[in-house]
Amino acid sequence: MRKIFIAGNWKMNLLKSSATALVQQLMDSLKGISNVDVAVCPPSVYLGDLAATLRGSAIGLGAQNVYSKPDGAYTGELSCAMLQDVGCQYVILGHSERRAIFGETDALVNEKLKAVLAAGLTPIVCIGETLEEREAGRTTDVVRGQCRGSLAGLTEEQMKKTVLAYEPVWAIGTGKTATPAQAEEVHADIRALLSTLFSPSTAEHVIIQYGGSVKADNALELLGQPNIDGALVGGASLKSDSFTAIVQAAAAIKK
Ligand code: 13P
Repeated sequence: MRKIFIAGNWKMNLLKSSATALVQQLMDSLKGISNVDVAVCPPSVYLGDLAATLRGSAIGLGAQNVYSKPDGAYTGELSCAMLQDVGCQYVILGHSERRAIFGETDALVNEKLKAVLAAGLTPIVCIGETLEEREAGRTTDVVRGQCRGSLAGLTEEQMKKTVLAYEPVWAIGTGKTATPAQAEEVHADIRALLSTLFSPSTAEHVIIQYGGSVKADNALELLGQPNIDGALVGGASLKSDSFTAIVQAAAAIKK
C-alpha cells in the first residue's frame, strides 16, 4: 500500500512574509488529514524559518536542490547536513529546470541522490521528456534512460526510500496536463522498469508522483490512476486554497 504524497515545489517564488503566511494557512486548512503525506519545498533561504513555523505539524519540509559534497570550496552550494541542520526532510533532485537551465546531468543527479540517501533525507528525483521527444515517439526511451542514469548503483533499500516524480516538460507551467491515460502509461512503464532493475516488490513500494499543471480540478482523476501515487505541484502550490484542494482530492481517494 503506497500512501499518496503531495509536495509543493515553490520554485523561486514568495518572500519571507508570504511564505510564512502560506505555511500557516496550510497548517490550518490541512489539519485532520492524515491519509496523505504533504510537504512544501520553499526557496532554501526560508527553510530554517519555515521549519520553526512548521514545528509539531505533519507537513514536511523539502529543499529544491542540494550539492553532493559534504563541505568545502563549492561557492553558492549547500550540503545535505546543512539542509538537515535547518529542519529539512526532503530534497527535490534533477528537476527539469535544473537539467535545462543549469545543465544537470543524470550522472550529477545520481551523485546527489547517493549523498541525500546516505544522509537519511528523502529524495524526490524528477524525470520527464520534452515535447520534441514525445512527438518523436521517444518518451519511453528518454524516461527509461533518465531512470537508469539517475538511479544507477542504488540498493533495493535505497530505491524503496526514493520518490520519483514524472514531470513531462511540456506540461510544466503550461496549463497543459498530461491526460490521466498518458501519465498512467508512463508511470506503469517506470514501475515495470524498476521491477527489472531492482525487484517486483521494490517496484511496488516506490512512490511515483506526477507533476505538470496539477490543479484542483484534474488532481482527482490523475491521482485515481493505479500507478500515480502523488503529485509534485508548482503553480497551484503557491496559494493555500488551490494546494489544499489538491490535498483534499488526494485524501478522498481510496486505492
Ligand atoms: P506546474 O505545476 O506549475 O506546472 O509545475 C510543475 C513542476 O515543475 C513541479 O515541480
